[in-house]
Amino acid sequence: MEGKMMLTALLCIATVAVVNAGDPYFFYTWNVSYGNAAPLGVPQKVILINGQFPGPNINSTSNNNIVINVFNNLDEPFLLHWSGIQHRKNCWQDGLPGTTCPIMPGQNFTYHFQPKDQIGSYFYYPSTSLHRFAGGFGGLRVNSRLLIPVPYADPEDDYTVLINDWYTKSHTSIKNLLDSGRALGSPDGVLINGKSAKMDGKDQPLFTMKPGKTYKFRICNVGFKSTLNFRIQNHKMKLVEMEGSHVLQNDYDSLDVHVGQCFAVLVTADQAAKDYYMVASTRFLKKEMTSTGVLRYVGGSAQASTVLPKAPVGWAWSLNQFRSFRWNLTASAARPNPQGSYHYGKINITRTIKLVNSQQVVNGKLKFGLNGVSHIDTETPLKLAEYFQMAEKVFKYNVIKDEPGAMIKQLTVEPNVLNITFRTFVEVIFENREKSMQSYHLDGYSFFAVATEPGRWTPAKRENYNLLDAVSRHTVQVYPKSWSAILLTFDNAGMWNIRSENWERRYLGQQMYVSVLSPEKSLRDEYNIPLNAGLCGIVKGLSKPIIYS
Ligand SMILES: *[C@@H]1O[C@H](CO)[C@@H](O)[C@H](O)[C@H]1NC(C)=O
Ligand SMILES: *[C@@H]1O[C@H](CO)[C@@H](O)[C@H](O)[C@H]1NC(C)=O
Ligand SMILES: *[C@@H]1O[C@H](CO)[C@@H](O)[C@H](O)[C@H]1NC(C)=O
Ligand SMILES: *[C@@H]1O[C@H](CO)[C@@H](O)[C@H](O)[C@H]1NC(C)=O
Ligand SMILES: *[C@@H]1O[C@H](CO)[C@@H](O)[C@H](O)[C@H]1NC(C)=O
Ligand SMILES: *[C@@H]1O[C@H](CO)[C@@H](O)[C@H](O)[C@H]1NC(C)=O
Repeated sequence: MEGKMMLTALLCIATVAVVNAGDPYFFYTWNVSYGNAAPLGVPQKVILINGQFPGPNINSTSNNNIVINVFNNLDEPFLLHWSGIQHRKNCWQDGLPGTTCPIMPGQNFTYHFQPKDQIGSYFYYPSTSLHRFAGGFGGLRVNSRLLIPVPYADPEDDYTVLINDWYTKSHTSIKNLLDSGRALGSPDGVLINGKSAKMDGKDQPLFTMKPGKTYKFRICNVGFKSTLNFRIQNHKMKLVEMEGSHVLQNDYDSLDVHVGQCFAVLVTADQAAKDYYMVASTRFLKKEMTSTGVLRYVGGSAQASTVLPKAPVGWAWSLNQFRSFRWNLTASAARPNPQGSYHYGKINITRTIKLVNSQQVVNGKLKFGLNGVSHIDTETPLKLAEYFQMAEKVFKYNVIKDEPGAMIKQLTVEPNVLNITFRTFVEVIFENREKSMQSYHLDGYSFFAVATEPGRWTPAKRENYNLLDAVSRHTVQVYPKSWSAILLTFDNAGMWNIRSENWERRYLGQQMYVSVLSPEKSLRDEYNIPLNAGLCGIVKGLSKPIIYS
């Protein structure tokens, strides 16, 4: 492995190639445009990718080179983000306002990324403005390489199930609403793969199954604020993978999928050959909203029963379910060595960052923040300002402290960037003193989600951490008046976003960036800015420096 890393480094020096040239390439051209759809029966303007809503699925294998030339035919600047793809050494491909200049209307940009040493179930979506409320999202799967054993038999087929809460307002009206200082309010319904079955016996099936066969379903919550409970009439789901990790294979009647999370389950067609409903319903909202989609057995089309299995009640159930998720220590993930050979529980913590969310009306407008700072995006992406050595003109590092302090409710509005020393092992606590459900995502990494508990965090709570087989993943939920703890090594140099997966909160400031720099400015640790990267803000028109060698 060491040899392979060296080889990669040498290749980079020799050719200034951004990727390992030995891995196969897959090229896509995507046309992003507006279209019309009525996913909840109300016609609305949506964002299509090559005419599709949701967008096309990307099917890839670990280390593949994925090259996607994205043409922006909208009337607004646009970016796509590949959530959960780590872009090792290469945050240039992360597609966020903090890392990349947007693709201007009528322009295109070619993303080039590799799911390096990754497997699993992911999705992509627009990160600019509130475009995601109009669509533009889709599934992204990373299969295991053939030589690496997968801890279950090959399924008959592999289905992507994108579930989300949905608003019938256009993304521009939602933007106007939030910009004017008002709150988003409750969603209008729930979608499964961009649809909601009418349950009148005429719905077309979303998926079919042959009797006796086993199928993989990759279920992602691509929504905005609602935790969704997912279940299938009369069928158990065997959980096999979660955000890039193989887990202990338990059977579940239903799964709480928090915003931003992805689960892969196996479902065996072991019931009478007819139709069944897949059901997704909101959790923890005042009014439960439910949507269904038809799953059809080949050779039978008798209508599905309209009696739907009920969602569990309360969040204690959900918390217990979180605790039942365990890393399979003996399974191989993207590399042949067992997942459990990385003993994260034995590494000393060098820094603890506790992030507390809060909200406040600032100058008449609702804002959300972390440790007292409500993040705003800058015209010059943070990463570009840093790379061109002009950071001080755009943002200040470390405006928040590692501890929240007493002033978390006095929000200041400014870019929120913490610097973190390369390769240090850090503990991040998300403490939620509010009454709403939270979900957080970190780009560029996966982390060990070692605990989630009610109350406030104290150092003594470390005794309750799962230091053996917590799942390595990229998104963690935090229950009302509770905290969650994650552990990780910051070994991927770049500028990476930590954000609330609640899209209203993220848009109104509950997000931040961490800057992890290569101390040696070495190409072994990070790539130089790609040749095709756009420049904007104060770096527009400048020539691109070569920082890493
Ligand atoms: C992309 O979509 C726009 C809007 O629908 C259309 O005008 C244009 O012809 C499309 N371009 C390609 C290359 O398909
Ligand atoms: C997805 O990729 C896998 C592995 O490369 C391949 O076996 C499978 O046929 C592909 N599926 C589709 C729908 O392209
Ligand atoms: C835009 O697309 C053209 C091909 O049509 C391609 O040659 C060019 O590199 C693309 N631009 C960027 C910035 O990726
Ligand atoms: C864990 O992975 C191994 C493959 O190494 C597999 O044989 C085993 O069934 C898995 N265990 C569980 C409980 O899922
Ligand atoms: C971790 O910390 C303990 C106690 O401070 C110390 O004894 C041990 O050597 C450290 N381990 C490593 C690998 O640094
Ligand atoms: C990162 O933070 C440390 C301490 O807070 C500081 O000494 C260092 O200069 C910072 N690095 C950058 C690039 O700002």
